[in-house]
Amino acid sequence: MTSRYLVLGKNGQLGRCLTRTLDARAGCELVAALGRDEVDLADAASLARLPEGDLGSADPWLLNAAAYTAVDQCESDVDVCHAVNGDAPGALADWCRERNVGFVHVSTDYVFAGDAETPYREDDPTAPRTEYGRSKLAGEVAVLERTPAAWIVRTSWVFGPGKNFVGAIVRQGVLREAGKAEGPLRVVADQIGCPTYAGDLAEAIVTLTQCNQAGAGGLLHLSNSEACTWWDFARAILDAAGYGHVEIDRVSTDAFPTPAPRPAYSVLDTTKARGLGIEMRPWREALEDYLAGDDFSALHQSLRDEVAVAG
Ligand SMILES: NC(=O)c1ccc[n+]([C@@H]2O[C@H](COP(=O)([O-])OP(=O)(O)OC[C@H]3O[C@@H](n4cnc5c(N)ncnc54)[C@H](OP(=O)(O)O)[C@@H]3O)[C@@H](O)[C@H]2O)c1
Repeated sequence: MTSRYLVLGKNGQLGRCLTRTLDARAGCELVAALGRDEVDLADAASLARLPEGDLGSADPWLLNAAAYTAVDQCESDVDVCHAVNGDAPGALADWCRERNVGFVHVSTDYVFAGDAETPYREDDPTAPRTEYGRSKLAGEVAVLERTPAAWIVRTSWVFGPGKNFVGAIVRQGVLREAGKAEGPLRVVADQIGCPTYAGDLAEAIVTLTQCNQAGAGGLLHLSNSEACTWWDFARAILDAAGYGHVEIDRVSTDAFPTPAPRPAYSVLDTTKARGLGIEMRPWREALEDYLAGDDFSALHQSLRDEVAVAG
């Protein structure tokens, strides 16, 4: 049986990886990948543009990788943030339920308070401390109230094709290599989480739609395994990308005040996913693969070009 898929958020990190996974995976057919131009989740009326006619099959799915992810901007752009992350997922869940379409919606570690000392399980109490987190939690609640068979996949610290921490750190290496910056980087060493490669997350999500319990639905934590600090992550990035000589100072969260407070601890417990047969590898292995791939080599070259032009 061929499963047929619609993907929202096609230009984001996860959306791009989902389209690649679906193109490559046997038994999967990508019917359409849509970006903001086609379906704007801030505009409820634009859901009418979802191409339902093309989805007809025994096993149709909608995968929502679109979200308002600018965490600090959410603090001031509250209405749009809640429309995209809180209201739209509920409307998408209605759309799926009415058409008997499976739904996977993606959420975040920011739904938790971030002050735990052991990994968060799916049923642990939520207590978001940011507008982004509150909006994403509202989206979770709306989806599961309306369509209990939907899956809500919570993830953390995503890197892949797009704008992310890996690119920001490598840019600092490129600047130093070009003699346009000097001295050690300063990276936060008191926040702990699990980096997650968007390519691995996409594979896991598609596997979820194909596993026997896919009809069950509910909350599911998916991140690469092994926790670290942002400092550890930055060190590994520089070492693996050829900038091992660049030093990094460990600083505390207070050194970088942000409009949205960052969680001190956001490790997700992935026991439930392992029970479904979905095992995520350690983030260091995933990072190595990402740095060896075409996405990173294109990014690396563009950073070098940008730094060279900057004079
Ligand atoms: N990035 C992380 O560290 C992280 C951590 C935990 C959870 N998550 C969750 O993981 C999922 C995927 O994140 P990601 O890292 O792939 O995010 P991303 O790279 O920022 O991509 C998000 C996509 O959503 C699209 N989008 C934003 N507003 C929209 C709107 N009004 N209508 C339609 N599309 C809109 C963006 O479109 P444009 O390209 O047009 O801007 C972008 O392509 C999200 O649900 C996010 O909340 C991410």
